[in-house]
Amino acid sequence: MTEHTASASPPSAAPLVLGIETSCDETGVGIVRGTELLANTVSSSVEEHVRFGGVIPEIAARAHLEAFVPTLRQALDTAGVTLDDVDAIAVTSGPGLAGALMVGLSAAKGLALAADKTLYGVNHLVAHVGVGLLDDAADADAAGVSGGGQPAAVTELPPGTGALLVSGGHTEILRVRSLTRDVELLGSTIDDAAGEAYDKVARLLGLGYPGGPKIDRLAAEGDPEAFRFPRGLTLPKFVGTAEQPGKHRHDWSFSGLKTAVARAVEQFEVAGRPVPTADIAASFQEAVVDVLTAKAVRAAGEHGITTLLLGGGVAANRRLRELLAQRCADAGIELRIPPVSLCTDNGAMVAALGAQLVAAGVAPSSLDIPADSSQPVDRISV
Ligand code: KG4
Ligand code: ZN
Repeated sequence: MTEHTASASPPSAAPLVLGIETSCDETGVGIVRGTELLANTVSSSVEEHVRFGGVIPEIAARAHLEAFVPTLRQALDTAGVTLDDVDAIAVTSGPGLAGALMVGLSAAKGLALAADKTLYGVNHLVAHVGVGLLDDAADADAAGVSGGGQPAAVTELPPGTGALLVSGGHTEILRVRSLTRDVELLGSTIDDAAGEAYDKVARLLGLGYPGGPKIDRLAAEGDPEAFRFPRGLTLPKFVGTAEQPGKHRHDWSFSGLKTAVARAVEQFEVAGRPVPTADIAASFQEAVVDVLTAKAVRAAGEHGITTLLLGGGVAANRRLRELLAQRCADAGIELRIPPVSLCTDNGAMVAALGAQLVAAGVAPSSLDIPADSSQPVDRISV
């Protein structure tokens, strides 16, 4: 397999990189110069999925196709650069929806070939972490609960960095020894993603899609202790001890929780009583956030993580931010929450990781790389 090495200039410390993200329902094109964010243009097809109550892969793929060129144009305009100016093109090669990934990947290959640029197929999950290096990511907007405060030109993640990624498609905790060389999966969901659980429960409560923001709002009016919903994979047989970890010590499971909520709703309906939606929303949210944060903080503590970055769409959740901030502070872990626009899927995170790969002199990808819907987290670039 030959590598595409047309632009043979030496690696720059602050390369201009175009990043393309199409792994789910957001068409993202971002442009960075090193750690400086120049553009972050996102076109979402979320409205087209509303009536189905979840992302429909074929609709997402078609929407990427339609949105790609306008999104690219807008990003280039915003950054004030041309395709000719960029040093490399980075694109999410996985994990994600196969058809959706393929649209971005094909576009990136076409651009790389036409403009004679190097191509980097990168890991979506690692890109979520890469965003933490962007200068703007320091201006955290977490209603006073985030860490932030790093100097503007940081190009290395602090030693002992970890990331908790929580979205509609994934729920993982990672240890990041080096963004370009060494990322390890410590734990993940074994069934539904946390955001997916929000979306499913919102549907049960008749709140519509996407459910996260709706439950977030409704929960504020309810009693989080009204119902004691299950915290998945917390029994000793799954958790074990620090010395003898159980199989799912750092993993999550949200499908049992969703079923428990469905049963609770059903009991009220069968009895002909009004469903206490605010109390159910608050109690469901407390169960999600409790187990998410407890397990993340334990995994962090046991793996030397002293700085934890939060990413993914669920990072917008107010209760998650509050409880995670509290538990991280108690455990002596610095919590960093980038602005929501950089937490949700976007092209800037892909560009940010691409810039690090270029700066580190990592070999570019070949033009025939495939989309890998289940790309493991230790395959940082392909
Ligand atoms: O990262 P994202 O935009 O797309 C992917 O799923 O990859 O995340 C969207 C997910 C949805 O499941 C949505 O319900 C959830 O994030 N979400 C929230 C909140 N805002 C968005 N979940 C809980 N609370 C929120 N405020
Ligand atoms: Zn994501």
